[in-house]
Amino acid sequence: MSQRILLLPGDGIGPEVIQEAEKVLKKVISIYKLDLQLESALLGGSAIDKEGVPLPESTMKLAEQVDAILLGAVGGPKWDQIDRSIRPEKGLLGIRSGLQLFGNLRPAITFPQLADASSLKKELVAGLDLLIVRELTGGIYFGEPRGIRTLENGERQGFNTYVYSESEIERIGRVAFEAARKRDGRLCSVDKANVLEVTVLWREVMDRLAAEYNDVELSHMYVDNAAMQLVRAPKQFDVMVTGNMFGDILSDAAAMLTGSIGMLPSASLDINGKGMYEPCHGSAPDIAGQNKANPLAAILSCAMMMRYSLGLEQVADTIEKAVEMALDAGYRTVDIYTDGHKQVSTTEMGDAVTDILASL
Ligand code: IPM
Ligand code: MG
Repeated sequence: MSQRILLLPGDGIGPEVIQEAEKVLKKVISIYKLDLQLESALLGGSAIDKEGVPLPESTMKLAEQVDAILLGAVGGPKWDQIDRSIRPEKGLLGIRSGLQLFGNLRPAITFPQLADASSLKKELVAGLDLLIVRELTGGIYFGEPRGIRTLENGERQGFNTYVYSESEIERIGRVAFEAARKRDGRLCSVDKANVLEVTVLWREVMDRLAAEYNDVELSHMYVDNAAMQLVRAPKQFDVMVTGNMFGDILSDAAAMLTGSIGMLPSASLDINGKGMYEPCHGSAPDIAGQNKANPLAAILSCAMMMRYSLGLEQVADTIEKAVEMALDAGYRTVDIYTDGHKQVSTTEMGDAVTDILASL
């Protein structure tokens, strides 16, 4: 039976990078004669424009049915003034939580070809291979109560709730321990246990799990220190595990170590390994529609999809190899451009990777 992939191009540069990822998918489908069916649907601002809501029911239904989802990005200034309950981001958060995609894997790998493009010194980042495991369907992003209320004195007050239950901590902990086990066997759990009770519990659960994973070395770090260590000596880390909000912030910082956030794919998995795959970069409205965006994060997200949800490890390896070969051949979108290379557009980069795939 054929496996189904849902494309959600979304907003900003989303459609541009997904178009290139689609080229790559079609190419591997034809090379490997894969029985994969591509479908697409609306999400985010583009869905608001056409259907009035960021996550139409038809999109959610398809998302539930397919085997894997590839998302571009959502949001942009056009929808900034819109009512909070239907902001484009709600569409993304709605899918994550509706499908219980709690396990977010955000690798930060510095391709040797791009060590020069990082804002950090080359020797600090060359060879970096870090995995951030972020809890994605809980914590302060989803905690209730939340809102903006008016106090008796007439002043308004904003409030959110930071909660994690033991079972939520345990299931993300297991994802991280398992990932560390397959890598260098080192896991750093990031919390704020010196201030926040919710992360005191987080630390306790991680310690309890560590007893089951004797082959993994667990350490703990406060989030402020972790942010500093990431830019001071990032290669000390193998796998980091943290909650939703700290993971959001640390993964952006980690992304920059690699030269450009335009290179980073991600996977968001449910308990059975069904997943949504997305570039980490967001909708980048400032460069949308200019054929400038780097499609490699979206293309590398396809590789992750092959590996984690579709059981096609060899296809994943081939896509990653083609990306490396495109970099070796000197192709650079503007975000990763350094002297002496060929500056290319979004579509030219997609074509380069597709042509390389055809030649392998
Ligand atoms: C991310 C993004 C999202 C998040 C936004 C767009 C809701 O920043 O995937 O990191 O905060 O999770
Ligand atoms: Mg983010």
